[in-house]
Amino acid sequence: MDVTSLLWLLFLMLLCCSTNQARLTVSPSRSQLFEEESVSLSCEEDDSSAGWTLRRNTTRGQMRRCGDGWGKPAGSSCSITYVITLDSGVYWCESREGSTSSIINITVSGGSVILQSPVLPVMEGHDVILHCQTKSPPSKLPADFYKDGSLIRTEPTGHMTIHHVTKSDEGLYKCNISSHGESPPSWISVTALVLPTSGAPTQTSPPSPLAFVPTECVFILVLHLVVFCVYFICLLLMVSSYRHRPTGTVFPTQPKPLNSDLINPVLTAFSSVYNI
Ligand SMILES: *[C@@H]1O[C@H](CO)[C@@H](O)[C@H](O)[C@H]1NC(C)=O
Ligand SMILES: *[C@@H]1O[C@H](CO)[C@@H](O)[C@H](O)[C@H]1NC(C)=O
Ligand SMILES: *[C@@H]1O[C@H](CO)[C@@H](O)[C@H](O)[C@H]1NC(C)=O
Repeated sequence: MDVTSLLWLLFLMLLCCSTNQARLTVSPSRSQLFEEESVSLSCEEDDSSAGWTLRRNTTRGQMRRCGDGWGKPAGSSCSITYVITLDSGVYWCESREGSTSSIINITVSGGSVILQSPVLPVMEGHDVILHCQTKSPPSKLPADFYKDGSLIRTEPTGHMTIHHVTKSDEGLYKCNISSHGESPPSWISVTALVLPTSGAPTQTSPPSPLAFVPTECVFILVLHLVVFCVYFICLLLMVSSYRHRPTGTVFPTQPKPLNSDLINPVLTAFSSVYNI
């Protein structure tokens, strides 16, 4: 297939997958905050017309949108100037149609120690740095780190690095610093890099892009379905434009047949990709 067809296919794919996507970002990017800190959450969107808004579930209320008793909305962002322990909960972005982003946990500590851990899921194989921090002044004191209730490490400077995380590192972490206290617990989730193979030997060939994150497989499947629909619509347009083609003399008022220069490359691209 030629370059034009490929570009057309790419363009259509981008057009299709640019809807109903939003990524939730948090600043500062950590899962725990001290009381009176401020936080800003935003929905990074590809399609602003989808009307993404922040929602949260806390002990104070379920499914509350930003501005409804919490936070100050600004477009698809939301900020809280002084957080309190009751702001602890799960936060997510939701579009008008009800599609949702990933969900994050935010914990506000009323004490004087927090665990600085990643607020977003960590990709398998990456390093994770945990930092046990006191409220004031920020310290480099010795800290104990716990995972699922048991002590895993004591670090003299309060920093702990987990190298090349795997799914088994997923769990509930907390830390403590003597004379200051204990942090609340936070869940660290790890995103699998390769699809699990049932006991099969690991492949030596480089992993295909499809091998990353199971949820992306679902996404790609949906994408293919959407792309196939576009193909089908193009086909229908072609057929109808041929059927309306005059058989005898061309009348001046006859509408111009659909520009098949636009449709042909798309059809060619599909034929090559899907072996139709
Ligand atoms: C928020 O709370 C509602 C009602 O209890 C529940 O249906 C929903 O699943 C919760 N959402 C999240 C992300 O926890
Ligand atoms: C939030 O934390 C709870 C445990 O405290 C955990 O079960 C849940 O999976 C976490 N959710 C996310 C999205 O990290
Ligand atoms: C953490 O707390 C335990 C029990 O309260 C205490 O024995 C320990 O010394 C503390 N760890 C640090 C590093 O302060």
